[in-house]
Amino acid sequence: MRKYNVTLIPGDGIGPEVTKAAVEIVNATGIEIIWEIVNAGQDVFDEKGILIPDEVYESIEKNKVVLKGPITTPIGKGFRSINVALRKKYDLYANIRPISNLWKNDGKPINMVIFRENTEGLYIGIEHEITKDHFVSIKKTTREGSERILDKAFEYAKNNAKEKVTLAHKANILKMTDGLFLEVGRETSKKYQIPLEEVIIDNMCMQMVMNPSQFDLIVTMNLYGDILSDLGAGLVGGLGLIPSANIGDEIAMFEAVHGSAPDIAGKNLANPIAITLSAAMMLRHLGETKAAESIEASINRVLLKGEIRTKDLGGNNTTIDMKDAIIKEMKVK
Ligand code: NAI
Repeated sequence: MRKYNVTLIPGDGIGPEVTKAAVEIVNATGIEIIWEIVNAGQDVFDEKGILIPDEVYESIEKNKVVLKGPITTPIGKGFRSINVALRKKYDLYANIRPISNLWKNDGKPINMVIFRENTEGLYIGIEHEITKDHFVSIKKTTREGSERILDKAFEYAKNNAKEKVTLAHKANILKMTDGLFLEVGRETSKKYQIPLEEVIIDNMCMQMVMNPSQFDLIVTMNLYGDILSDLGAGLVGGLGLIPSANIGDEIAMFEAVHGSAPDIAGKNLANPIAITLSAAMMLRHLGETKAAESIEASINRVLLKGEIRTKDLGGNNTTIDMKDAIIKEMKVK
């Protein structure tokens, strides 16, 4: 059996609790992973005076696969966000966020994947002061940056037999930046022979709320993707359920969409499902599809039964209860 080396960053707040649960669940699949634990963030800063120690970079560059807990962004200490810094440093240009409520057995199912461009747009963080009462922020779109995320999305559509790709934009107003993204979207659609559905971002938000099951695969720019994925999280039960992958050509980092949730940290209250589903995406990335499916199916069964629910899902169970229930369900064949 193959062995894998994975960098594990527990992170801050609820990070250590939920990553511990995810590691136990992954280990219960029988896949052999050597977890190399290194840490970054607020706790490390308080201890060592540095947000991301060199050993974190060294481990990531050696193992190339990372499971990361949420990291608190310290206010006014150099970095705008460690998460954005890591995505930029390793050019993790594709942020992939699956949103589904397949565990529900009422109404139309929601099952969509959002591909968010992760390195350009307004997140380049270039802002200028014109006067003290007038600021501008630069939005960046390049052909290369658009091509690589659109290729990733269409490649996924091809491999998963999707009938269309929906592109959310505001090219009617932002004719150059969003216009270029849309133009590359049309070209990529022709290249893959998969239809492109073009939806203006404001209408997209309404459509997602009114009739989310019409969407399968959405590709969009950085800020729109950030907002749409939280909107999607709200449609299926909240941030405690939504995983994500940040993929570059060399390195892949898997993390929950949620933050470090300081309000419930250290209380054994956090829902470990989002980070566990992120770990399942990681197993898929490593080629361990069966193990990933086993985790996903067990989580769906636990949610469908509804006997074990953490507070965010309206119950009174703990992080550990949820982890135990998922592992127990994995053993039921
Ligand atoms: P948050 O996602 O940490 O919390 C928002 C709300 O959702 C809170 O009420 C929290 O209790 C709840 N929540 C989040 N995850 C949960 C889980 N697994 N189970 C149950 N409830 C959960 O967002 P917030 O409060 O805006 O950010 C806190 C810190 O996290 C900030 O420093 C922020 O910069 C950082 N952050 C880090 C991210 C990352 O590392 N990828 C992503 C988002 C925020």
